Amino acid sequence: MTLQTVTVDLGARSYDVLIGGGALEAGADELATLCPRGRALIAADAAALNLHRARLESVLKGAGLTPVIHAIEGGEGAKSWAGLQSLVDWMLDQGMERGEALIAFGGGTLGDLAGFAASVMKRGCNFVQIPTTLLAQVDSSVGGKTGINTSQGKNLAGAFHQPSLVLADTGFLATLPDRELRAGYAEIVKAGLIADRALFERLEALGPKALEGDALTQAIAGAVAFKARIVAGDEHERGARALLNLGHTFAHAFEAEAKKGALIHGEAVAAGLILAMRYSVRLGVCPQGDADRAEAHIAATGLPVRIADLPGGPFDAARLVARMGSDKKNTGGAITLVLARGVGEAYIWPGADRDDLERFLREESGR
Ligand SMILES: NC(=O)c1ccc[n+]([C@@H]2O[C@H](COP(=O)([O-])OP(=O)(O)OC[C@H]3O[C@@H](n4cnc5c(N)ncnc54)[C@H](O)[C@@H]3O)[C@@H](O)[C@H]2O)c1
Repeated sequence: MTLQTVTVDLGARSYDVLIGGGALEAGADELATLCPRGRALIAADAAALNLHRARLESVLKGAGLTPVIHAIEGGEGAKSWAGLQSLVDWMLDQGMERGEALIAFGGGTLGDLAGFAASVMKRGCNFVQIPTTLLAQVDSSVGGKTGINTSQGKNLAGAFHQPSLVLADTGFLATLPDRELRAGYAEIVKAGLIADRALFERLEALGPKALEGDALTQAIAGAVAFKARIVAGDEHERGARALLNLGHTFAHAFEAEAKKGALIHGEAVAAGLILAMRYSVRLGVCPQGDADRAEAHIAATGLPVRIADLPGGPFDAARLVARMGSDKKNTGGAITLVLARGVGEAYIWPGADRDDLERFLREESGR
């Protein structure tokens, strides 16, 4: 299958996302133009690096670059103040200049951390993403949201800082554990549920086969194209971009409450998407049939759809609502949710009633 290219159209800061097997090789020359000193400064997920180091180094050398690699233990723990400090110190120790690019090689946690480090490095240096998880390829590597977690919650410190190039090479996914692959798939379904009913229906028709081969490359390209359109229209999330948070207000609360290390982001998103659809049904805005279809498809791919099935529980409804109360989208103390009038019709609802949400989550926990 040929490579797919999606352009994120941001005027002078536009950039390409190359998607498919061989994207690394195809994008190497363009990458070299972003490394004016002939070296590739890479912040790499240690596990992905172990598995793919030989190929990465050989492609970079082939493009005339000397790889200089800083390995970091991936996972949520990497997205911390300490992780940021250590990475920025490394960049400074390398004598990095603002005209050089930092290359993030790894999953969403590595990309979020490296992007934030690039945004503060000498007030902003270039940045390239080579995402190696499905979640990072379909979602986190595109759009320029970067950041770290704080003790108060997920992603509470960060910056908008767009990459200059994204090489989403599906060859890297061959070594990804099944659980991580499925977790990333939740963000693809999310794109369909928000505003692309045709994408959802294509995925629904494929069932679990949507996670395989060319179908997966097509699905990634579909989700990235969808995200690129939203980001181009609202880079700094003053409007429509907030729709991309469908399911995420619930998901971030689960992640904050889960036993450490037990729950992964895409699993929390999968359950969060279904909760958003089901809460929309409860409010009388979404047909039951649409919520049922979303639930059936997500469950068919092996993702958790019920609170009781989420790793890292049990979860307490009152504590979840308290966590939802500190979400970034909230204003004036009220909880803002992204809800749906049906598959492909998400909207922003700024006035969620905390008591009703708590009752809903309590009922859902017993389902
Ligand atoms: N910036 C955004 O717009 C955005 C959007 C969605 C999610 N996110 C963030 O992304 C993060 C989740 O990203 P993730 O799911 O990629 O998690 P991750 O970065 O923790 O990676 C998951 C695991 O896979 C391993 N891994 C990475 N590549 C591999 C490979 N090719 N083969 C084998 N193992 C590999 C990593 O070591 C890690 O253990 C969350 O912190 C979330 O908040 C950000």
